[in-house]
Amino acid sequence: MADKKRSSFGSRFGTIAVLAGSAVGLGNIWKFPYMAGENGGAAFILIYLIVSLLIAVPVLLAEYALGRRGQSNIFGAFRNLAPKQKGWHAVGLTGVVTAFLILSFYAVIAGWSLYFLWESVTGSYMGMSAQQIGAKFDTFVEGGWGPAIWALIFLVMTGGVLLLGVNKGIERCSKMMMPMLVVMLVALAVGACFMDGWREGMRFLLRPDWSKVTTSTVIAALGQAFFSLSLGMGAMATYGSYIDKKENLYGVASTVAVADTAVALLAGLAIFPVVFTYGISPTAGPELVFITLPSLFAQMPGGAVVAAVFFLLLFFAAITSAFSMMEVVVAYLSEEFGMSRTKAMWLSLGGLLVLAMLCVASQLPDSVLTIGGKNLLDFLDTFTSNVLLPLSGLSIVIFMAWVLGRKALADELTTGGRYARRLVGPTIFLLRYVVPLMMVVLILNLLGVL
Ligand code: PHE
Repeated sequence: MADKKRSSFGSRFGTIAVLAGSAVGLGNIWKFPYMAGENGGAAFILIYLIVSLLIAVPVLLAEYALGRRGQSNIFGAFRNLAPKQKGWHAVGLTGVVTAFLILSFYAVIAGWSLYFLWESVTGSYMGMSAQQIGAKFDTFVEGGWGPAIWALIFLVMTGGVLLLGVNKGIERCSKMMMPMLVVMLVALAVGACFMDGWREGMRFLLRPDWSKVTTSTVIAALGQAFFSLSLGMGAMATYGSYIDKKENLYGVASTVAVADTAVALLAGLAIFPVVFTYGISPTAGPELVFITLPSLFAQMPGGAVVAAVFFLLLFFAAITSAFSMMEVVVAYLSEEFGMSRTKAMWLSLGGLLVLAMLCVASQLPDSVLTIGGKNLLDFLDTFTSNVLLPLSGLSIVIFMAWVLGRKALADELTTGGRYARRLVGPTIFLLRYVVPLMMVVLILNLLGVL
């Protein structure tokens, strides 16, 4: 392993496409817009920007540095950097487990987008009312077979791309998909400018309403920034190990963060005018994307085309994020157990399919697959984002800021003293004090203690 040259991304553009591909996902397209709308519009956006800059981007830098310094999968990175301290290796392992768990239910939701993409292309729900589409969606989800097959197709496609390797698979696909995603999203946002509900939608998204801002707004913004930048599961560290040794990490991290936020804002600009044009209140949750929007597309002139573009975009966003989650598991299996990438992929795919099928089954009526009153899919979602992600995020930060050593961290962050030397002091200060403090507050809040 050690003597084999590790893959690294081929170009600056490829690096950004892959890393932004991971960051831009379902979290940007449906979650950010409605969170912004409900938490005070521009006030939330401003808080989100501050929290991203002071907390999330430093953590992103720490994860990239961990991967690039450790030159390995997330488990191997900890082992390489702290060979004797086994406790840290467990943090690496938690990352692998988290990525596996998240991908198993993420694939089910991504499967729903594929289903709607198919239904939009065939035009089968055009002209239907919101109730009819709601009923159609329920029948689909509760039927079991449909969601199972679409999740399977999604996972097989993800695995297929990984099989082609980091450069020929992940990088090449991201370089095609990400620009297409941006073009489609800009087209939808421009189209939305001509809709009657545009002004109202803009007001909902952009008018700062400070009366809605409380401590929990800040915490919500932090949680969202974390998920949106793919932090806390070693995905960014695993990808970090493929960042070229000469690349400027600050440049990469800030470009990715700006791109991620821009896509989230654009999604709001594209979605809310549609919602308000048809006089619907912007409801929260997956309903917005999978019931409300399809029913609006169904009434719009040319709606089938708009719908197909929207769900294709959602699919691209989801699969480029899925690459990064599956890569965490595949890199771990192939490097730690000395198996080929092919074998590692099949093994991960097998495991993911089993868990994804259980998630699908947990949504059938009268399913017994519930934990603490939640169906398996909802449980995995809440448990990973409220417990595993923040905890491993915090551990990674503590390791990088306090255990690795200031010299090594500064060396990696500045690419051997080449870039951003003046930013290192403030970054390390944030990583040592501000980030852990905020993370602890976040975790206590998520656990309901605070
Ligand atoms: N960042 C992705 C999104 O916004 C989700 C994700 C989380 C992807 C963690 C990879 C790792 O949807």
